[in-house]
Amino acid sequence: MNWGRLEETVRTGRSPVQQHVFETDPEMGANVLAVLHRIGRESGPSLAKRMDLKGAKRLLDVGGGAGTNAIAFCREYPDLRATVFDLPQTLTLTKTFVKEAGLENRITLAPGNFNVDAFDGLYDVALMSDVLHYQNGETNAALVRKIHDHLAGEGRLIIKDRFLDNSGTSPAWTTAFAVHIMVNTEKGQCFTGQEAMDWMKQAGFQSITELEPYAIIQGTKGSKETR
Ligand SMILES: C[S@@+](CC[C@H](N)C(=O)[O-])C[C@H]1O[C@@H](n2cnc3c(N)ncnc32)[C@H](O)[C@@H]1O
Repeated sequence: MNWGRLEETVRTGRSPVQQHVFETDPEMGANVLAVLHRIGRESGPSLAKRMDLKGAKRLLDVGGGAGTNAIAFCREYPDLRATVFDLPQTLTLTKTFVKEAGLENRITLAPGNFNVDAFDGLYDVALMSDVLHYQNGETNAALVRKIHDHLAGEGRLIIKDRFLDNSGTSPAWTTAFAVHIMVNTEKGQCFTGQEAMDWMKQAGFQSITELEPYAIIQGTKGSKETR
C-alpha cells in the first residue's frame, strides 16, 4: 500500500512510513522473515560452505532474523556456536526455527536493538545479512565500528546485501528493490558496495574484498602479517 504513495515520496523526498516493518508491525515482519527463511533454507547451506569458516568457534549474526543463516552455518561447521542478535519481537519466531532445527544448545538468542544495546563478548565471525538497507549510512557506519570492537584478533565481518554499482543505476533488480525500500522504510536505501567497504575501512578492517559482486563483502579485523 505504501507503493501508492510513491509519487508523494519522490516529490517530497520523505518516506510515507516511520521506522520499518520489523519495528512497527511484528506480525507482518514475521511473515517477511518466514518467506526469507524459506528462500534462505535453499541458499544458506551453499553460502555457509563458500564462506569457509573452518576453525571459527563463535559467530555473531547481527539482525539474524529467523536464524536461517545461523542454522545453516552451525550445520556446516560442527564446532561453531552462534548468537543471533535481533529485536525481541523477531526472536519469538527465531526461537521456533532454532528449536525445529534442534540447535538450541548451539544457538543463543540475544534480544536488543543493535544500534543501542551492547553485544556481549568477542566473536571470530560476524555476519550482517540484509540489514544495511533498513537504515541510513551514518547508522550503518557506527554499527560496523561496533562490530569491529566485538571481533577477536583475526575476526572477520561478512556483509551480505543488495549493492548498487557506483552509478547507482544497476543491477536492475536492485534498483527496483531500492524503490521498494524507499517507500517502505523511514531511512533505508540500497548502498553501493564501495560505501560499505568505506565504512569497513574507516572502522579499521583490513583485507576488504568483494566475495560476490553486488552481494557479499568481507573484511578482517587484523591479519597474521600485521600482528
Ligand atoms: C531482512 S531481515 C534479515 C534477516 C537475516 N539476517 C537474513 O538474512 O535472513 C532484517 C532483520 O534485521 C532486524 N533488525 C532491524 N533493525 C534492527 C535493530 N535496530 N536491532 C536489531 N535487529 C534489527 C529485523 O528484526 C530483521 O530480523
